[in-house]
Amino acid sequence: MPYICVHCGGPLDPSGEALACHACSRAYPAQGGVPVLLPYPDRHIDATRKALLAERMALALDQMRANAPGARHERLRAAFTARIANIEAASAPFFRAYRGTATADPAAADFVARARTGWSIARLIPYFIADWGDCGSAASVTRIIADEALHSADRQAALVIGAGAGKLVTELAGSFAVVTGIDLSLPAMLWAQDLLHGGDAELRPEHGGQRGDGNAICIGGSDRGPGNAGFAVADAGNLPFADGSQSLVVTQYLLDIAVDPAGIAGEVHRVLAPGGVWVNVGLPFRLPGDSAGADRWSEEDMHAFAGLHGFELDHAEARVLPHLDLSAFDPAWNGEVHRVVLFRARKAGPAQRSRLHRSALHRAAVPHLRSDAKIEIEETREIGAQGATFKIRLGKSGRAMMSEADSCRLVEALVAAIDGTRCVDEILAATSGIAAPSEALIVLEELLVTGQIELGDQRTA
Ligand SMILES: C[S@@+](CC[C@H](N)C(=O)[O-])C[C@H]1O[C@@H](n2cnc3c(N)ncnc32)[C@H](O)[C@@H]1O
Repeated sequence: MPYICVHCGGPLDPSGEALACHACSRAYPAQGGVPVLLPYPDRHIDATRKALLAERMALALDQMRANAPGARHERLRAAFTARIANIEAASAPFFRAYRGTATADPAAADFVARARTGWSIARLIPYFIADWGDCGSAASVTRIIADEALHSADRQAALVIGAGAGKLVTELAGSFAVVTGIDLSLPAMLWAQDLLHGGDAELRPEHGGQRGDGNAICIGGSDRGPGNAGFAVADAGNLPFADGSQSLVVTQYLLDIAVDPAGIAGEVHRVLAPGGVWVNVGLPFRLPGDSAGADRWSEEDMHAFAGLHGFELDHAEARVLPHLDLSAFDPAWNGEVHRVVLFRARKAGPAQRSRLHRSALHRAAVPHLRSDAKIEIEETREIGAQGATFKIRLGKSGRAMMSEADSCRLVEALVAAIDGTRCVDEILAATSGIAAPSEALIVLEELLVTGQIELGDQRTA
């Protein structure tokens, strides 16, 4: 599948194991054959590695705490041991493929990459079991979506956004010439690709042997999957695909967790060919401007939602489906079901808004803060503990990102320097005592793409 640059929209060409943009000369490395198509891929890979190591470390500490004698501790110890083994199995494809350049000291703009590492692998393990362990629930959702996908008149290219464990990607490969699954989680994409290529993994029940036999379950391990399916790391809000390049786009359990479902709708519209089909299955969702008490957008609102974003609704309904039915693996599964919105829409009208490229932030551009900008810094000090932890939140519904004190100082200095008269170059000069201009530029770009700043007239020399 041809990709485009997520900085400037230029076409990407192979360059050794990486992809390179001829327009702006940025490079996008691949890890284990999975391209990382995010604005700062090396930082992303580094942030992913650190998150995985931190996850393992936290579990090891929990396990040590459970080392006291007693029956309850015995069960906890067994659960932690199983969980650690599962995380190791799940992250093995990542560590096998890892070719990053680890950085010891966090840089001031690292929090931007940290915000986009996707779901943790621990959180995704049940999705892998459901997808690759032949459980009934995933198979039924996959079937529903695969049937809806057949309404696509053109069967050239299909895209699954937020692909998670990725089984749907392999299912659609029978109906489309090429299928790509994208997700923010690099470990998930590498594991999905490994399973697709016939790899397998042994996972252990984490409920202290409630399964009875305590035996491990083996997932994957079937024949090599279809050659027209593949995975990449990318952001739903900044898709690395050319306008009109896809026949079908699927979002499954994504809109309810997304920071900006309207932004995703805009990107789906952009990459779909005219008449192309968008299939969504997932929980009702909220849009960034919605008040906290507002009803979530549900099946009866999908006509309006589709119309707002340049789609014509073919079909919308509510379905009640089991949520991650792992009963075949774990009898402790709680039998939870949930009510989801299924819709199928067709690209029919003009886009509601066009995508902003990071490259718009050139040196002579004059940014100003939007009147509805929301930039928050949270500092937490625990009594008795040394130091503090910091979180930065950009945008009304933006996620709070763990950061360093340096990052907070940089954000504060940037906000003070953006006065509607200074151009980018002058803002970078004004904040150079706090952080290197290259770091400040990354944060400025993030302010732009999260809608905190707008660009006024460019300065003429
Ligand atoms: C609830 S899981 C669903 C996984 C899969 N679609 C399924 O239903 O089995 C959500 C997935 O979306 C990914 N995700 C979250 N935000 C994303 C974004 N902005 N772009 C791409 N993937 C994203 C997460 O990493 C996670 O794998």
